[in-house]
Amino acid sequence: MWFSDIWKFKGVRQTLDCRNTRGRSAAFPFELAYRLINMYSIREDTVLDPFAGTGTTTCASIASSRNSIAYEIDPGLVETITETVATSKAEINGRLQERIETHRLFVESYSKKKEIIHYNDYYRVPVVTSQETEIILPRILDIDTTDDRTFVVSHESTLQNM
Ligand SMILES: C[S@@+](CC[C@H](N)C(=O)[O-])C[C@H]1O[C@@H](n2cnc3c(N)ncnc32)[C@H](O)[C@@H]1O
Repeated sequence: MWFSDIWKFKGVRQTLDCRNTRGRSAAFPFELAYRLINMYSIREDTVLDPFAGTGTTTCASIASSRNSIAYEIDPGLVETITETVATSKAEINGRLQERIETHRLFVESYSKKKEIIHYNDYYRVPVVTSQETEIILPRILDIDTTDDRTFVVSHESTLQNM
């Protein structure tokens, strides 16, 4: 699905609650950043977003076990970015869970048409390509704020079956 020519996902809410900045966020969907980061970088790489906006790319980087650095020219957005990132744990873990569940549904129907020969031992699930056999999606344990612009993220050390 990720390597197809057409991606389909819904847009996101554009309203900004913060009074100190503009009325419209121009935020893009988390899924867009998440896919691109996963396709074109590897675990523990550092993702640079020069136009942070609401912090979507930072959240997608955290979800993908990447480091990230973000710049935003509008100081009125700092509060929004900080809050979005600091409170993103549940949403990120939910999305990781959803990714595994979606994959399980996918293999269920795919395996009726084609034989699947690869297997991911961590999740005990068949996978289509050999690259997927090693994929693990560590869940977030904590997102700590060290100051209003720096976050330290810890992941669950032992893999929980999803
Ligand atoms: C399209 S928005 C980014 C939205 C973001 N991807 C998201 O999902 O929330 C572009 C952002 O770049 C910021 N920006 C524009 N010029 C900039 C510059 N020179 N340096 C840093 N940020 C800049 C704008 O203030 C705006 O918040």
